[in-house]
Amino acid sequence: MTLLVFGTTGQVATELRRRAPAGSLFLGRAAADLADPAACAAAIRARAPAAVINAAAWTAVDAAEAEEAAATVVNAAAPAAMARACAALGVPFVHVSTDYVFDGSGTRPWRPEDPVAPLSAYGRSKAAGEAGVRAAGGTHAILRTSWVFSAHGTNFVKTMLRLSEARDRLGVVEDQHGGPTPAAAIAEALLRIAADLAAGRGASGTFHFAGAPDTTWAGFARAIFARAGRAVTVEGIPTSAWPTPARRPANSRLDCTGLTATFALARPDWRAGLDNVLSELGARP
Ligand SMILES: NC(=O)c1ccc[n+]([C@@H]2O[C@H](COP(=O)([O-])OP(=O)(O)OC[C@H]3O[C@@H](n4cnc5c(N)ncnc54)[C@H](OP(=O)(O)O)[C@@H]3O)[C@@H](O)[C@H]2O)c1
Repeated sequence: MTLLVFGTTGQVATELRRRAPAGSLFLGRAAADLADPAACAAAIRARAPAAVINAAAWTAVDAAEAEEAAATVVNAAAPAAMARACAALGVPFVHVSTDYVFDGSGTRPWRPEDPVAPLSAYGRSKAAGEAGVRAAGGTHAILRTSWVFSAHGTNFVKTMLRLSEARDRLGVVEDQHGGPTPAAAIAEALLRIAADLAAGRGASGTFHFAGAPDTTWAGFARAIFARAGRAVTVEGIPTSAWPTPARRPANSRLDCTGLTATFALARPDWRAGLDNVLSELGARP
């Protein structure tokens, strides 16, 4: 299968490069800038692949508050243009989205069909991207995930390990709930979905994919330090004690049952994924 992937350096894109079938083509920012949606669509038409995965996005959540227009081009106009190009070619388009499309109310895990109500500019840009992908009318899958971590790029695991070099006590938010998700597992899921849709299996739609079990950022931090053998005490703090430009949802739990039913993909255990990432970083005791 000739797979075309947008993104080369990101967490998910890096894990896709490790697993993608031979002959897959990865386009980084220099080859396809998502700030230029028409160029992204042209890149798809020029390659005529069997399936397209978009693993690139504006992921600077706080910076998006001051630059919503630019974030919206990258996160909404570009995937919409990609999805239209795929629909015209008759090839599936697989897109990654986020728990931040929800407002975080309640405690029930969000279902894919629940109404979106983003709290942040980033969330609005991603929700607009989802709408654009659906409106293109082609075969597609939108995979919403949460709390992505890996051995590369910037993420919570690497931040906690860095802080543990200098601190033996940390305050970490304990009133946001969700599932940490290994980028490696997301990459495996995206490849399965792309292959299935290209082969006429599965079905178009919006799906959730998050690591299990659900926890909090403080719970995740405690697991990181325990598994890395770092003697750091984590003090749970409320979100109000850690103000950020963008508001985050308190409830990011995702109901992933639809993905299991349609693509036979189960929630990955993030603790196993965490051990793999710590090993890769040389941070296992
Ligand atoms: N990180 C999370 O916790 C999280 C949570 C939920 C959902 N997601 C979603 O998961 C997907 C993958 O996220 P990730 O964590 O792998 O992201 P990441 O590590 O921040 O990587 C983002 C990628 O997008 C590329 N990119 C950004 N702007 C671009 C542009 N204008 N043109 C071309 N490429 C551009 C970056 O390229 P450069 O290296 O050139 O900048 C980078 O390769 C995204 O759709 C994100 O919204 C992430």
